[in-house]
Amino acid sequence: MPPLYDPKALTDSLELDYVHRPRALHRWLTRSTWLTGSLAVLCVAWVLWPTHHTALEAGPVSTWHAMFNQDCGKCHTETFATATRLAPGQTGVHSTPDHACMQCHPAPDHNPCVKADNCASCHKEHRGDALLARPGDRHCTMCHAQLKEKYGTPCRQFENVASFAAHPEFLLWRGKDATDPGNVEFSHEKHLRLRLEDNLEAIAPAVRKLREMECSYCHQQDAAGKYMAAVQFDKHCQDCHPLQLLNNTDKVPEPLKRTFLAFLKEPVPHPQKGQTAWHVRAAARERYLQFAQGNATVLKLPSVPPKEWMVLPGLPRRGEPATQSQIEWVNEQWKLAESLWFDKRAGCAHCHAEVSKKNSRPDGLPDFGKPRIPQRWLEHSVFDHRAHRLLTCTSCHEGALTSDNRKDVLIPKLASCQSCHQATPGFARADCVECHQFHHRAEPAAWKATMTIQDCTGK
Ligand code: HEC
Ligand code: HEC
Ligand code: HEC
Ligand code: HEC
Ligand code: HEC
Ligand code: HEC
Ligand code: HEC
Ligand code: HEC
Ligand code: HEC
Ligand code: HEC
Repeated sequence: MPPLYDPKALTDSLELDYVHRPRALHRWLTRSTWLTGSLAVLCVAWVLWPTHHTALEAGPVSTWHAMFNQDCGKCHTETFATATRLAPGQTGVHSTPDHACMQCHPAPDHNPCVKADNCASCHKEHRGDALLARPGDRHCTMCHAQLKEKYGTPCRQFENVASFAAHPEFLLWRGKDATDPGNVEFSHEKHLRLRLEDNLEAIAPAVRKLREMECSYCHQQDAAGKYMAAVQFDKHCQDCHPLQLLNNTDKVPEPLKRTFLAFLKEPVPHPQKGQTAWHVRAAARERYLQFAQGNATVLKLPSVPPKEWMVLPGLPRRGEPATQSQIEWVNEQWKLAESLWFDKRAGCAHCHAEVSKKNSRPDGLPDFGKPRIPQRWLEHSVFDHRAHRLLTCTSCHEGALTSDNRKDVLIPKLASCQSCHQATPGFARADCVECHQFHHRAEPAAWKATMTIQDCTGK
């Protein structure tokens, strides 16, 4: 019998005190338990160390808030309240209450009916820049899908919008015929087909420029590049339609005729913003007077000898005083020019469609009314021409080449936007905030600064 199976020899082969003897595995287990324990304590201590809180974040805050990334308490002023959040129906619980955000930037409300509250529901942090101010559609459609049902007057003036695919046609085009309220006669069609061959040599440089630039001859982006700047007479019409003084030359002696014709060609300034026909009249009369005085001898209009000028002491001398005969000459010239400008179709009324009756103004001049050319058309949305700069203008403003009436509206309809903007891959984005703002701001947004460098750096 081998010694191992011999019961007498068993005690010799069994080491009964084996539990008391040191063993490699045991040693290793004990050590690693201690190591893990102290590592955990170290980790907690490290994370709790004021400059190491970032370890708890899912990701850094957006670049706008990068300065406060270390200072969690700037936004997280409340407890995380994890248990409360897990309870059903608790959607508004945030460790970042609205007042924490508002201490730095109070946000304007959506409108008088809807406050901007629950900031953190729309403004997601720790998820990269892209999401900070780009809430998904459900943050809008939770109200807008059933606006009419959820709100009473006066907070329900808009149609329900459940998605961009089911978006209502723009108000401009709904129901009634859209009319351009502008008050300046203009035919896009006539101007866009101007050709030098049609006897337009006199204005050749402008016609060439118009043919080359097409729409952008008259329509240039505004300073921000989003919308088109206002059309201005001086920049966009004057080169072809100068306000020239119209007169016959009968009353002008032969040697002066050429000078007088050149003088008439020099355009009189058209009214600037806020000015009226009165300014045109004043400018024209001033020009005639200067001509009369500059050519007084040839025109046989005596002038006042310099020594007899009356000037108040201390005041600068502002031109020669007019004599009676000069004033009479100016009046006669002006009478003819005035009737051509203010009474005839070829004058101001060539472009100014709504002329109220003559003598309706205290100074006896016709009132051409305000131009009323709209600067914004779809005010409840935002648009950016720059983002579409590779598209030809007529892809959206289809009617421009054929419109022969100032009352035509050339603004695109919803369908034209929907041909590119769709909530499906392969199309331009169609989320609500692509075209709409949430916070209603007065334009341009007023700056109300509240922070110092110290507030930002904490030092
Ligand atoms: C600029 C403000 C801001 C700063 C600074 C900031 N956070 Fe946040 N954090 C938020 C917002 C907003 C949320 C989303 C809150 C929500 O949805 O309830 C959030 C969410 C969290 C969450 C998820 C739990 C929760 O409340 O949803 C953690 C964890 C967190 N932050 C940790 C941190 C830590 C740690 C720091 C500092 C190192 C920090 N944050 C700094 C704004 C901030
Ligand atoms: C300590 C001050 C401070 C706090 C607290 C703070 N912010 Fe900001 N926030 C800033 C500064 C500074 C900027 C960058 C300047 C700017 O855009 O106005 C900014 C920018 C933003 C932007 C603009 C991003 C863009 O598209 O221009 C949003 C949105 C924003 N913060 C939301 C929030 C929200 C929501 C909270 C609360 C969770 C919050 N902020 C808390 C200071 C703060
Ligand atoms: C329903 C969603 C929603 C809520 C709620 C909301 N915002 Fe916004 N916020 C937006 C959207 C969308 C934008 C970007 C478009 C815009 O400017 O309106 C934005 C932009 C901002 C901006 C940057 C733009 C700027 O120029 O000022 C700040 C700052 C801001 N929000 C702060 C806040 C604060 C603070 C609150 C809470 C009092 C809040 N928001 C509540 C949706 C929301
Ligand atoms: C809490 C409900 C609520 C939420 C959330 C909401 N809206 Fe509104 N919104 C309204 C109400 C109510 C009106 C109508 C106010 C009125 O009739 O004067 C309105 C009006 C509008 C209008 C038309 C008038 C205007 O101000 O230009 C637009 C566009 C709009 N909201 C877009 C949005 C977008 C985009 C979002 C998401 C970022 C959003 N709304 C989120 C309730 C909400
Ligand atoms: C490049 C030269 C050019 C420019 C620039 C120009 N026009 Fe004209 N305009 C013409 C010519 C030439 C005609 C005559 C065309 C015709 O009868 O077919 C005309 C005709 C008109 C008519 C009469 C149209 C009709 O139905 O008979 C009006 C009104 C008018 N222009 C207004 C304007 C206004 C307003 C501007 C500036 C925004 C302007 N034009 C800029 C050359 C120009
Ligand atoms: C060729 C077309 C044309 C002719 C001719 C013309 N205008 Fe105008 N007028 C315009 C256009 C376009 C505007 C709007 C853009 C601007 O203000 O420059 C305008 C604007 C005005 C305004 C409003 C200024 C403001 O914005 O407050 C007045 C007043 C005016 N014109 C008076 C006249 C008078 C008076 C005459 C004749 C002496 C005249 N216009 C001749 C095209 C014309
Ligand atoms: C993607 C479609 C699109 C294209 C391309 C486009 N527009 Fe527009 N345009 C619009 C919309 C939408 C508006 C209304 C904007 C608003 O709310 O005022 C507009 C408005 C205008 C206005 C009225 C003033 C204003 O800014 O509101 C003029 C003028 C104009 N566009 C000219 C042009 C010219 C010139 C081009 C080519 C260089 C052009 N557009 C290209 C869509 C377009
Ligand atoms: C010679 C100047 C001139 C040129 C060139 C011109 N426009 Fe205009 N446009 C105007 C004037 C003036 C108005 C304002 C009066 C009106 O509404 O007809 C206007 C208004 C507009 C409007 C806004 C008003 C509305 O009724 O929708 C759009 C959009 C527009 N133009 C698009 C275009 C496009 C697209 C082109 C090129 C294909 C173009 N325009 C070329 C002078 C011009
Ligand atoms: C030919 C295709 C096309 C058409 C038509 C078109 N868009 Fe766009 N739009 C784009 C693309 C591409 C972008 C840039 C990418 C993006 O933001 O999705 C864009 C961007 C925009 C933006 C965001 C601009 C910014 O930078 O913030 C707005 C707002 C917009 N489009 C409104 C409209 C409206 C309103 C219409 C209809 C009048 C329209 N678009 C028609 C292709 C188009
Ligand atoms: C591609 C651009 C675009 C997108 C995307 C878009 N809208 Fe609009 N929306 C507009 C334009 C343009 C108007 C016309 C504004 C006006 O008439 O002043 C408008 C009008 C509205 C109005 C006013 C409706 C009325 O009765 O006239 C509401 C509300 C609205 N949008 C909500 C939304 C909501 C919610 C979403 C997201 C589901 C959305 N929009 C997506 C461009 C857009």
